[in-house]
Amino acid sequence: MDWGMKNRLSKIIKPKDGHTVMLAVDHGYFMGPTTGLEKLDEMVKPLLPYADVLMPTRGGLRNYIPPETDIPICLRVSGGTSIINETNLLHEGIIVSMEDAIRLNVSAVAFSILVGQPFERDTLLAFTQTIDEANRYGIPVLAVTAVGRGLGKDAKYLSLASRMAAELGASIVKTYYCKDFEKIVESCPVPIVIAGGKKVPEKDALQMAYDALQAGAIGVDMGRNIFQSSSPVGMMKAVNAIVHKNATPKDAFEIFKENEK
Ligand code: R5P
Repeated sequence: MDWGMKNRLSKIIKPKDGHTVMLAVDHGYFMGPTTGLEKLDEMVKPLLPYADVLMPTRGGLRNYIPPETDIPICLRVSGGTSIINETNLLHEGIIVSMEDAIRLNVSAVAFSILVGQPFERDTLLAFTQTIDEANRYGIPVLAVTAVGRGLGKDAKYLSLASRMAAELGASIVKTYYCKDFEKIVESCPVPIVIAGGKKVPEKDALQMAYDALQAGAIGVDMGRNIFQSSSPVGMMKAVNAIVHKNATPKDAFEIFKENEK
């Protein structure tokens, strides 16, 4: 691994503890004006001090995030379908050239693959093309193991998708927390972060983050459970405490409540 790749990875995964808190705000690429992100700039600004990495789209970055912002960027580079196109949901291809990703000075790029759908080959080949192009410039690729309709968020499916992503060349895998999550971690040779998924009560989201860390995840890449919370800053601080300070779910929930007042 060359210096550039190692340097970028150290911006994504914090060397002090090998953990990371990623804040996902890329939802607009297929969900449009997602609840909580209508004014993305106003939502994100107070959250940045408690995030290690920001995951936006290129339009989100250019239009809402000031260029002097001091946070590593993991840029979403896959997409191509919208939430209303149910048959093709997550049938994603490359939506950003590596040249533009470099122009945006990113530390990593993120690509969603969908294993187990008729079009899986399309997403996997575009994914590996992205890995070849990104690695040429020392840019790590985070694989998002998307879950399509009819596919379970279970360890059997997610370990298949996660291991495939790693074998195909991903530097980091993002997947969902589920029962027997440690089996996914054990069979995946690269670090794993969890997505938050749909908004759930804050207590449950914090418990999930804690359980994922206990089972071997190196952090989170959360969106809706942060920015759709009654206190996004409180959730961000609470998740940060779990990931970097080994806080218990109870302590983390207290942190959230303190900030909710
Ligand atoms: C979804 O495809 C996007 O990549 C999201 O950024 C990701 O799923 C994480 O966000 P959330 O925690 O809202 O699921």
